[in-house]
Amino acid sequence: MSELNKVVMGNAAREFDVSANTLLDLRKNFTKELEEGLADPSKSSLKILPSFLTTPTGDETGTYLALDFGGTNVRVLKVKIWKHGNYKILKKVEFPLKMEGKYDFIGKNATGEGLFDFITKLIELSLDGNTEDEILLGHTFSFPSEQLDLANAKLISWTKEFQTQGVEGVNVTELLSKSLLKRNLTNVKPVAVINDTVATLLAGAYTHANTLIGSIYATGHNTCYLEPNYNGEPMIINLESGGFSKVEQNTYDKLLDKTSEKPGEQFLEKMVSGRYVGELYSLVVKQALSSEENFAFDSLDLCNIAQSVDVKKIVKEKAGYDIQDKEEEELFIKLATNIMNRSASLISATFLGIYYHIRKLPTIAVDGSLYVKNRFLQNIIDENLKKAGGNIRSFKVDDGSALGAAIAAAMAEGKM
Ligand code: BGC
Repeated sequence: MSELNKVVMGNAAREFDVSANTLLDLRKNFTKELEEGLADPSKSSLKILPSFLTTPTGDETGTYLALDFGGTNVRVLKVKIWKHGNYKILKKVEFPLKMEGKYDFIGKNATGEGLFDFITKLIELSLDGNTEDEILLGHTFSFPSEQLDLANAKLISWTKEFQTQGVEGVNVTELLSKSLLKRNLTNVKPVAVINDTVATLLAGAYTHANTLIGSIYATGHNTCYLEPNYNGEPMIINLESGGFSKVEQNTYDKLLDKTSEKPGEQFLEKMVSGRYVGELYSLVVKQALSSEENFAFDSLDLCNIAQSVDVKKIVKEKAGYDIQDKEEEELFIKLATNIMNRSASLISATFLGIYYHIRKLPTIAVDGSLYVKNRFLQNIIDENLKKAGGNIRSFKVDDGSALGAAIAAAMAEGKM
């Protein structure tokens, strides 16, 4: 293994340093793109996707199935909700969508039919043999989708490096319904399909009044908000903010984008989300060690390194490199700190971008492993929000995707 090129490490860390001016520009551009998008969606890198929902009243009650599909694990939960944030998970079935050497429902040889047949098997498991009593299902589907109505949505395009064939451009509720019918699970009624940001906003608003923004900070990243005036009425809008493109990419962002599954798409997401931050780190370390190998650093490693936890151990494990001295260790820490600081800071600037559009101090509900598990990232977000003045704050929502799906099913029931 060659020596560490300290100049490469130092220069790269500087490339990830984010200035107050960059954040201010991003915030302004975000408001501008949002308002241009509302006037004409084709003019914006933000997608303006109406959810057919507004925030819940808090009176939603009942027992529902929640299908949570958006990452490498798919979950089906039976959730009981009863007023203002009280809920209980009665049953949970969870499986990975890919198991090395056994099956893969998200790779390029996978099909939509196979994927939804697999998901339906999990739904069946969650029913404990009860195929008689009708149960409504809320589906949190965490990909950019065009909502046809509350129950039906067409996948626009996969993100997060998913590649399953035959789903883009297709109504995912139809795929699910076909699979349910094949297994004779006609008592399961899919009545709502929502983005995970929408689920988070619903779950947040169920407990905290004034929750106007919902966001996910995890494998992927995205934000939605309650638009007070969408064709004259309030409507939760999914912005697919991971696709926001008015943000300057550095050398490594460009490199990562070039080799990704969808070059030229999801600019912001590729700079901030858990699926990519480890890869950005790896690109730098690879260059600094003049290696041909891609190292498997992940977001958890970066959060640990940024907090000076197990630095030598992680670098040895993931890059096979023995850190020589304190100076080298500091370079690894600085790089992780700057990547993670940039990530959380860019996200907070987008929240402020929404605030300057709605002009109402919002409470922001956030779910996702990066946010939920890392106090220091929550602090960066809150510090940045504070700078804007006023009482804008973020809070974490537990089980947001599942709880939101159940609330959406309850809201659909109220409307049927
Ligand atoms: C998807 C969004 C989703 C986000 C968080 C992104 O890749 O495009 O729809 O909300 O990930 O899961």
